[in-house]
Amino acid sequence: MSEQSDAIFARIARRYDLINTLLSAGRDQAWRRSAVERLPPGRLLDLGSGTGVAAPVFGERQVVALDPVREMLSLSSISHRVAAVGESLPFSDDSFDSVFSAFVFRNLTSIDRTLSEMHRVLRPRGMAAVVDLGRPTHSLARSISRLGTAITLPLAGLIARAPADYWYLHQSLDKLPPPEELFAQSRLRLGSVWRMGLFGFVYGALLHKD
Ligand SMILES: C[S@@+](CC[C@H](N)C(=O)[O-])C[C@H]1O[C@@H](n2cnc3c(N)ncnc32)[C@H](O)[C@@H]1O
Repeated sequence: MSEQSDAIFARIARRYDLINTLLSAGRDQAWRRSAVERLPPGRLLDLGSGTGVAAPVFGERQVVALDPVREMLSLSSISHRVAAVGESLPFSDDSFDSVFSAFVFRNLTSIDRTLSEMHRVLRPRGMAAVVDLGRPTHSLARSISRLGTAITLPLAGLIARAPADYWYLHQSLDKLPPPEELFAQSRLRLGSVWRMGLFGFVYGALLHKD
């Protein structure tokens, strides 16, 4: 992960979940749930788990929470926690039935390396689900979305007492292409993509290890 986002998440860890809930009008957990319910049972890796906010939607799965920021992990209720980055997973090959990752991909140093690591640790026919924010594809909706985050994210930054950090989050929304392009070259095969939230600014993507 970049040192910049490392420092950001360490600073905002304590207020992060509250601000997320405010920004998503309480929908963020439903977005995570829509991805997790598409995954098989068994052993799940929560990549970029943060404070472990997704724990209630994992059901009976055996969950390993991975995140490089100890300030985030220390707030987690998930008992199996590992401090590491997605680009270099400290797990053996074929050791997970599923990988889940929500709101992490914009912060990765290398998406290619992380996808390749996800492929390695998944068992054959295992599945991964990624949830993240993106810009809508339609140009008018995209402009409205840019204006919206230019207003709401600095406000969230004031609540978090980290205005510059939230301005960075606003800018990071334009960093990545849409999921259909982002995952096109991966060894994990892109199954479905679905969109959620206002103007579809949140996407879910399901990836398969054949
Ligand atoms: C926006 S938070 C999302 C947390 C949680 N997944 C959720 O659904 O709210 C992004 C998380 O990704 C973590 N992160 C940043 N870079 C990472 C990397 N290279 N590998 C794994 N996690 C990373 C951050 O520390 C932070 O906890």
